[in-house]
Amino acid sequence: MENGGPGALRIRQVLLLFVLLGMSEVGSESGRFSVAEEMQSGSFIGNVAKDLGLEVGELSLRGAQVVSKDNKQHLQLDVNTGDLLLSETLDREELCGSTQPCVLHFQVLMKNPLQFFQIELEVRDINDHSPVFLEKEMLLEIPENSPVGAVFLLESAKDLDVGVNTLKNYTVSPYSNFHVKMRVNPDNRKYPELVLDKALDYEEQPEFSFILTALDGGSPPRSGTALVRVVVVDINDNSPEFEQPFYEVKIPENSVLGSPVVTVSAWDLDSGTNGEISYTLSHASEDICKTFEINQKSGEVSLTALLDFETIESYSIIIQATDGGGLFGKSAVRIQVMDVNDNLPEVTVSSIISPIPENSPETVVVVFSILDRDSGDNGRMICSIPEDLPFMLKPSVENYYTLETERTLDRESRAEYNITITVTDLGTPRLKTQHNIILLVSDVNDNAPTFAQTSYTLFIRENNSPALHMGSVSATDRDSGTNAQVTYSLLPPQDPHLPLSSLVSINADNGHLFALRSLDYEALRTFEFRVGATDAGSPALSSEAPVRVVVVDENDNSPFVLYPLQNGSAPCTELVPRAAEAGYLVTKVVAVDGDSGQNAWLSYQLLKATEPGLFSVWAHNGEVRTARLLSERDAAKHRLVVLVKDNGEPPMLASVTLQVLLVDSFSQPYLPLPEVAADKTQADSLTVYLVIALASVSLLFLFSVLLFVAVRLCRRNRAASLGRRSVPEGHFPDHLVDVSGTGTLSQRYLYEAFLTGSSETSEFKFLKPIIPNFPPQGPGKERKESPSFRNSFGFNIQ
Ligand SMILES: *[C@@H]1O[C@H](CO)[C@@H](O)[C@H](O)[C@H]1NC(C)=O
Ligand SMILES: *[C@@H]1O[C@H](CO)[C@@H](O)[C@H](O)[C@H]1NC(C)=O
Ligand SMILES: *[C@@H]1O[C@H](CO)[C@@H](O)[C@H](O)[C@H]1NC(C)=O
Repeated sequence: MENGGPGALRIRQVLLLFVLLGMSEVGSESGRFSVAEEMQSGSFIGNVAKDLGLEVGELSLRGAQVVSKDNKQHLQLDVNTGDLLLSETLDREELCGSTQPCVLHFQVLMKNPLQFFQIELEVRDINDHSPVFLEKEMLLEIPENSPVGAVFLLESAKDLDVGVNTLKNYTVSPYSNFHVKMRVNPDNRKYPELVLDKALDYEEQPEFSFILTALDGGSPPRSGTALVRVVVVDINDNSPEFEQPFYEVKIPENSVLGSPVVTVSAWDLDSGTNGEISYTLSHASEDICKTFEINQKSGEVSLTALLDFETIESYSIIIQATDGGGLFGKSAVRIQVMDVNDNLPEVTVSSIISPIPENSPETVVVVFSILDRDSGDNGRMICSIPEDLPFMLKPSVENYYTLETERTLDRESRAEYNITITVTDLGTPRLKTQHNIILLVSDVNDNAPTFAQTSYTLFIRENNSPALHMGSVSATDRDSGTNAQVTYSLLPPQDPHLPLSSLVSINADNGHLFALRSLDYEALRTFEFRVGATDAGSPALSSEAPVRVVVVDENDNSPFVLYPLQNGSAPCTELVPRAAEAGYLVTKVVAVDGDSGQNAWLSYQLLKATEPGLFSVWAHNGEVRTARLLSERDAAKHRLVVLVKDNGEPPMLASVTLQVLLVDSFSQPYLPLPEVAADKTQADSLTVYLVIALASVSLLFLFSVLLFVAVRLCRRNRAASLGRRSVPEGHFPDHLVDVSGTGTLSQRYLYEAFLTGSSETSEFKFLKPIIPNFPPQGPGKERKESPSFRNSFGFNIQ
């Protein structure tokens, strides 16, 4: 560098000298010398005289001198010897630069005659310069994706020397991915090229440094160095890569919104934006977009919608990681939704027969299906109905079940079933669904009407008004609707002589029984018939019940005095001997009553007497006895009025008048028996029968009494402890006699009446059956008919 500008100037001066010399060059000789550069001044170059053929003395004589064209005195001439010496050190690079060969032209000028001698001095190069790089440090930026063999230009070095001493070769050390190759320009300039031997990788080694050495060809060679820094430029040559190519996660379907699902992560070897990764869902379906989102930076996938295993069991997501340079990598994520027992079993009733007729055994009533949308155990179900129902649960195909009747149903005991179907799944926790089915049972006419009572007894007071409502029968039918519509009717009576249709009528609708006419206890005490109840079903069912109508007596008959007879013009006269003691039985008033019960309980009392105190009447048996001894003073004829009263309410009365005649003895010829004579023959035969009957009955009675006494004695102790009464009936007034039952006196009673009557007169005419026709009277108090018959002594003999 230091010899660039002045060198060029010197070259110009030399050329000018040549021009000048050339014009004056006439017949001149020339000599040629060479000298290495950098020789010390005074160094011998050559002998001019010898070369030019001149005498040594001649030089000094002729005043020889060396002239250079540029007026620089590089040389000096020793005129005495003719030696040419260097007057200064020559620097070839300064004198000639890169020109080669470097020849300096001088003239040796001699006078007398003027003569020029040309001298050429070649300055030889020595290796006095090292190759030099203009820049000590070179920076190269090479993209990492440069192909092997790529060539990069380097700065060349300069060596001022020429020829072999000039720049010869370049080398790099240490050897790395490059070697250097020397190239030669057409102008013979040598420059180095860096050749890439091995691919670069920014990610592996982002920078290289090595020394570039330039060598010259001198001996010994000289060198120059420069530092080369190669900076590898990052190219987005790496795609993001996921840690795992495939992710698999499981997430329960009941995860809340925002739950993290999975976090993916990818890396990128590139730097800067080329290594900045953002995550996206790649080509996601609408479902996926709705359900998941990914955090662009962190790669966390989270839930944005609720999952439902039953709708979608799994998702396959492609996640794309993109770097700033647009390269991307993908990874698949499979999200398995785990079933959670979140669905209740469902019951779907396909068909139901309701109402179902009650007589349908083993009939399919309900068909239903069950469904649980969960899977696995969560979707396995158990179906049940309550045990106490008359239905069977039968599994059918798949999840279908049928409900069948186990047996015939009975609408009357249960008309409606509320069947609870319970379906439980086997998940955890167990979920349960209950479905209620209302099943109605329709009626079949399987029940006959039933009467409220097995039999009916109606008590009707006699003398009722016609069309009296006597009472009702009622029957119910456990069926419903027309099957339960009951119609009542009268059935033909068992007794064909009973004029039922004229006695009773029944309301077919409500079972009210009406009397069609007034009843008379004395004529008809009781009658029976049957009523029927029929339902309106098809076929109709019916049942019947007996009805007994009991006519209740009313006190409508007054006592009827049988003895003494009252309608005779001459009343009967009783004879009493004056010698009779007190208590002498005068006679006995015998009366009957057509009624029964209390209405027929009679009592007797003395209403009127000619001489009070002489006679007394026993209230309960109508015996008329003397109350005291008779005396001579007592009048012979007495008239007694005895009142007979029944116990009805109000009581009915009858009175009888007795004539009593006191006689001194029975020989008294006053025995008026007019009627007896008329009936004499009839009474004779009757007397025979009566005596036989009397005797047998008396024997029987005696035997009974004995038996009775014996039994009583045997059982006395026990009977006493039991407190049993000899008379089981409750209240029965002592002063009354019961003649209830009929207008006809029992044989027993008649017999007694006869015995206690005046036996002396042998009047049997009363013993024929007498059925008095009592006129109906106003209604008295209703009495219960006494089933027992009492004799005058007050104990029961019936
Ligand atoms: C330069 O040197 C390299 C090795 O260092 C060698 O292979 C090459 O031949 C040399 N070139 C010249 C022109 O000498
Ligand atoms: C059936 O029974 C269930 C409970 O056992 C009850 O909740 C429901 O109301 C009943 N349905 C009818 C119509 O009675
Ligand atoms: C008295 O009455 C009875 C019965 O009514 C009758 O048979 C009898 O002839 C009557 N006697 C007289 C005298 O009227």
